[in-house]
Amino acid sequence: MITKKQSRVLDFVKDYRKKHKYAPSLEEIKKKFKLASVSTSHYYISKLQDAGFLNKEHNQPRAVSTVEAKQMIEIPILGAIAAGQPIEAVEISDETITIAKDEIGKQGKHYALRVQGSSMIDEGIFDGDIVVIRKQEVAENGQTVVAVIDDNEATLKKLYRENGKFRLQPANPTLFPIFRDEVEVRGVVVKIIRNLESQLDQGQSRDEKYVRKIDYSWDYRGEKTKSHTHGIHTYPAMFIPQVGRRLLETYSKEGDTICDIFCGSGSALVESRLIGRNAYGIDLNPLAIFLAKAKTTPINPQKLTKEYLALLDRVGKIKDGEIKRPDFKNIDFWFKDKVVVKLAKLKKAIREIKDESIQNFLMVAFSETVRYSSNTKTGEFKLVRVKGDKLEKHDPDVIGIFRKHAEKNIAGMADFYKDAKKDSWTKIIYGDSSKDNGIKANFIDCIITSPPYGDSRTTVAYGQFSRLSAQWIDVFDDPNDASGVDNDLLGGRATKNLIHTLSSGYLKESLEKIAKQDEARAKDVLSFNLGLNECLKQAYRILKPGKYFCLVVGNRLVKQVRIPTDFIIAELAEKIGFTCEDIIVRNIPGKRMPVKNSPTNIVGALEETMNKESIVVLRKN
Ligand SMILES: C[S@@+](CC[C@H](N)C(=O)[O-])C[C@H]1O[C@@H](n2cnc3c(N)ncnc32)[C@H](O)[C@@H]1O
Repeated sequence: MITKKQSRVLDFVKDYRKKHKYAPSLEEIKKKFKLASVSTSHYYISKLQDAGFLNKEHNQPRAVSTVEAKQMIEIPILGAIAAGQPIEAVEISDETITIAKDEIGKQGKHYALRVQGSSMIDEGIFDGDIVVIRKQEVAENGQTVVAVIDDNEATLKKLYRENGKFRLQPANPTLFPIFRDEVEVRGVVVKIIRNLESQLDQGQSRDEKYVRKIDYSWDYRGEKTKSHTHGIHTYPAMFIPQVGRRLLETYSKEGDTICDIFCGSGSALVESRLIGRNAYGIDLNPLAIFLAKAKTTPINPQKLTKEYLALLDRVGKIKDGEIKRPDFKNIDFWFKDKVVVKLAKLKKAIREIKDESIQNFLMVAFSETVRYSSNTKTGEFKLVRVKGDKLEKHDPDVIGIFRKHAEKNIAGMADFYKDAKKDSWTKIIYGDSSKDNGIKANFIDCIITSPPYGDSRTTVAYGQFSRLSAQWIDVFDDPNDASGVDNDLLGGRATKNLIHTLSSGYLKESLEKIAKQDEARAKDVLSFNLGLNECLKQAYRILKPGKYFCLVVGNRLVKQVRIPTDFIIAELAEKIGFTCEDIIVRNIPGKRMPVKNSPTNIVGALEETMNKESIVVLRKN
């Protein structure tokens, strides 16, 4: 659906193209419609692109060329739906909306409803929005549905099946769920349409400027995320490659130099290499650096296979007396003795490989083998030891685990070697992104990143996750240093007090609410944001003017207070000299994040973590 003003912009683009044989610039659109800024022209163009009226020119993010008619579909608006207390389910067909067919998928019948109420605001569904619904009578747990309950009353809620009952969950922390034995599902939400037009025309107040736009097209539910070298090693909160690629394609072009300032295991760097961008990656976790290098270094698969087969041959011949047991604290707590012997033989055989890239690549499979053959629960990111009977019976097939991972990884490398652009480069820096890491000022064409969600102690402990592997593969001179990583990451050390000069109303509000319940937690949150603000400043320094900085962030809940990290980043960044151009909300269907975590480590004291994240798009002024 497009608004009147968008339709006038579309007519202008079409007429201009007819006359000049090329598209108008954003500046010309701004002049023509007397818009406040070029970013408002950009807003209109992206709306027209999202609605399918303009084609996206991937390598020219700001161009508005090719106009092509997309296949459109007319959908009836059947009336109103309550996102609050249920209202009578009336269906009156009077209006319709027209949207591009590929925005809602090819399958099924659709209808639209106008939303009333605020119970779904955390899903990015606001009073007055239009939701497009795909008709269906069943839904998966967690989907946003049109549910009819009691005496023909309809409501828009997230549906969960629990203990033989249905829970209709509002996405608004101030409201309670509705429990019913029976619920009739009339469809699931596939698209939300918001009219931001009036807000843009009226000038933007703080809240209006930071509107979140939910966009399910960023979910990539069910898509393959482990292609190429993406799947060679587990790492917490990895980028979905499709999200990384789409951001790169939208906000950079071939030949550009991009940077991921929290590169982790290097997912964005792999995608950059595949689509011809040079890339810098920065991270402060040595295991992440090791993985990112291995993932982005193309290796001839034939050579790799040859070395791998020779390695298997060698490892069986190593005698117990020839190995060196690693020496780090608590090794016997985390590994059974016979596992240590097998791992040490494998490591010795890998270290004998002369080619450093091949040695490192096979060390990645070894690192996964360390994790899987240790006494830890492998489904967790924190180090938790298995207990009792399970520990007793734990007898991992070390070489079998290694072979499985190595062979899968070699297949991934074969694809990466084939598809990686030969003249692009990747440079990976072990460093703190809140400091100057030697990248020149105004040098980077685009920054794409996903920062940690919060401090390591109460969210994902990257260092703890990496510790055992890091100790085995010698990424530290002294393996006992591996336990100190988390203290150095963002938010690793709480502040002494709550006094600060950060200019964010949203942060101030969150800190006040949290501090009322738990001052120590508020200090953790402040420390994280102080660090993040320094990282934003460094990002500003290295980015070229007019270029984009995209951050994929989560709004976590601390002490039942939802911290709007996306809005906080927007506010802090605007003080530094960025403009916040967009905040897109996506579901996290496949990301390995705990749905609940226990910050206190007290059983039952669970806090919800995120199942969605925001993509904050900033532009350097
Ligand atoms: C969400 S993860 C990034 C995951 C990455 N996108 C991937 O696909 O693997 C955040 C990363 O930030 C890193 N980090 C935390 N504080 C940092 C800092 N001050 N400087 C650089 N990296 C930091 C962590 O080590 C972690 O790898």
